[in-house]
Amino acid sequence: MVKDDELYQLYVSATARGSGLAATLLADGEARIATNGFGTGWLACAIGNDRAARFYEKNGWRRVGNMIDRLDTPDGPFMLNVWRYEKELTSPSP
Ligand SMILES: CC(C)(COP(=O)(O)OP(=O)(O)OC[C@H]1O[C@@H](n2cnc3c(N)ncnc32)[C@H](O)[C@@H]1OP(=O)(O)O)[C@@H](O)C(=O)NCCC(=O)NCCS
Repeated sequence: MVKDDELYQLYVSATARGSGLAATLLADGEARIATNGFGTGWLACAIGNDRAARFYEKNGWRRVGNMIDRLDTPDGPFMLNVWRYEKELTSPSP
C-alpha cells in the first residue's frame, strides 16, 4: 500500500517469495509515490527482518536510521522502533 510518500505493508505469500513478484509490487509502489509528487519515498522495516532488508537494499533503498513507528491496533496506538528506509524516486515518463 502507498500512503502519500510512504510504502507500507508490502508482503507476498510464502510460495511467491523469491519469484520476483515482490519486486514488481515494489516498483509499482515507487511509481505511485512519484506520481503523487514526492521525490523521496520511505518505509519502515521491523528491526531484524533481514530478508526484507536485503530485498529493499537490492532494489535501491537505503537504511537511513531508526525511527519510532506509530502502529494503530484494536487496543490503541503501539510505538515500535523500526529501521527507516528511503529511496529517491523519479517520476515516470508521461
Ligand atoms: C519482504 C518480501 C516482500 C520480499 O520478497 P521476496 O520475494 O522474499 O524477496 P527476494 O527473494 O527477491 O529477496 C530477498 C533476499 O533476501 C535474501 N534472504 C533470504 N533469507 C534471508 C535472511 N534470513 N537473511 C538475509 N537475507 C536473506 C534472499 O537470498 C534474497 O537476496 P538475493 O536475491 O541477493 O539472494 C517477502 O519476503 C515477504 O513478503 N516477507 C514477509 C512480509 C514482510 O516481511 N514484509 C516486509 C515488511 S517491511
